[in-house]
Amino acid sequence: MNVKIPRGTQDILPEQVKLWQWIEDKVRHITKKYRYEEIRTPIFEHTEIFQRGVGDTTDIVQKEMYSFQDRGGRDLTLRPEGTASVVRSFVENKMFGHPNQPIKLYYMGPMFRYERPQSGRYRQFVQFGVEALGSADPAIDAEVIALALEIYQTVGLKNLNLVINSLGDIESRLKHREALINHFKPRIGEFCKDCQSRLEKNPLRILDCKVDREHELMKTAPSILDYLNEESQEYFAKVRQYLDQLGVEYTVDPTLVRGLDYYNQTTFEIMSSAPGFGAITTLCGGGRYNGLVEEFGGPETPGIGFALSIERLIAAMEAEQVEVAFDDQLDFYIVALGDKAKDYSVKLLADLRNNGFSADRDYLDRKMKAQLKSANRLNAKYTIIIGEDELEKGEVQVKNMESGEQKEVKLAEFIDVVQKWSNRKEK
Ligand code: HAM
Repeated sequence: MNVKIPRGTQDILPEQVKLWQWIEDKVRHITKKYRYEEIRTPIFEHTEIFQRGVGDTTDIVQKEMYSFQDRGGRDLTLRPEGTASVVRSFVENKMFGHPNQPIKLYYMGPMFRYERPQSGRYRQFVQFGVEALGSADPAIDAEVIALALEIYQTVGLKNLNLVINSLGDIESRLKHREALINHFKPRIGEFCKDCQSRLEKNPLRILDCKVDREHELMKTAPSILDYLNEESQEYFAKVRQYLDQLGVEYTVDPTLVRGLDYYNQTTFEIMSSAPGFGAITTLCGGGRYNGLVEEFGGPETPGIGFALSIERLIAAMEAEQVEVAFDDQLDFYIVALGDKAKDYSVKLLADLRNNGFSADRDYLDRKMKAQLKSANRLNAKYTIIIGEDELEKGEVQVKNMESGEQKEVKLAEFIDVVQKWSNRKEK
């Protein structure tokens, strides 16, 4: 039996989960400010959703999907990304008919890609992503980018680079496509098999090839920015104007084509420039995908979004040595000495929890000193000490673990007293 975790996956242990939850809270808070609402779609979809959505010529579809047949013979795939599923759901649930347009959605959950695992690259990873559907206003492009940046800034990251590009509209893309074919065709024999098959199907993908990255034709390839028609140029200029207005710094990189097929007009990525961050520097990526809703059988609906993985965000926090202070204190820890006190602590513990306090006790029959150590390790605010003597007198000792102050409290008044303390604290 193989009792090891599968390659490219990781256990997130309780200590780490605290950081994850802290990040998730920040992310949810920010999305709420921008009025994005959470959507939860299935972890698996019909394989076609990704073939059609992400694109047949992409690495994701060709090499990285976890696809399988279920017992009913259906072709299914563990989702490698969230956009295709969200668009499927948008169409299936006729969200285009909802009065609150544009529809602004976010998701947070595991994605699966059969990639070569390395630092910052997993086979199961958690993506947070947003999708805004129903508006072709360049201001929403700027909003989506600003939201992504706000997340990184809020968790304390400083070494960030925003890179943007425009892939233009369909007309511009077709012209660029032709230019790319003419550029690569005479020497396509020098490229990898994948690129050879991409030449006619989707030459833009060649620019994203990991194998032929260094080929000289890559550097001289026609730039999309030279093929943007007037409308696309104006659109891109507006996006940049809004980013300038927001005081967002960026660089324009015409080689930023992204690894998924659905993009047009604006694309962007945020990179970490933190020294010590791994070889993969991209923290998040996104862009516009006008036309995708139609691809899924819906009415003409523009869309834009981005996604980031929490794993890479955490890696960037580690590289920048961001310190996070968690509020993970336990309200009460009960130290019970002797059988009667232990019996009594069962009820006291329940009373505390029923009154909204977090509380725990010793279950290993340890000596007083060891129990107090536990209280310390668990970061308890108060320790309640119950011995036989105290029980007979109808009282307990309560120790404030921060100040060291200790006082006796009558059992009958105990819950009242601790509630007063907690009210005082909340004020
Ligand atoms: P993507 O560039 O394929 O775009 O992935 C977005 C982000 O997911 C990456 O920037 C990275 O943070 C994270 N990511 C991707 N693969 C891995 C991996 N193997 N391990 C860890 N993190 C990873 C999309 O997925 C698009 N759906 C984004 C989008 C949304 N575009 C428009 N809307």
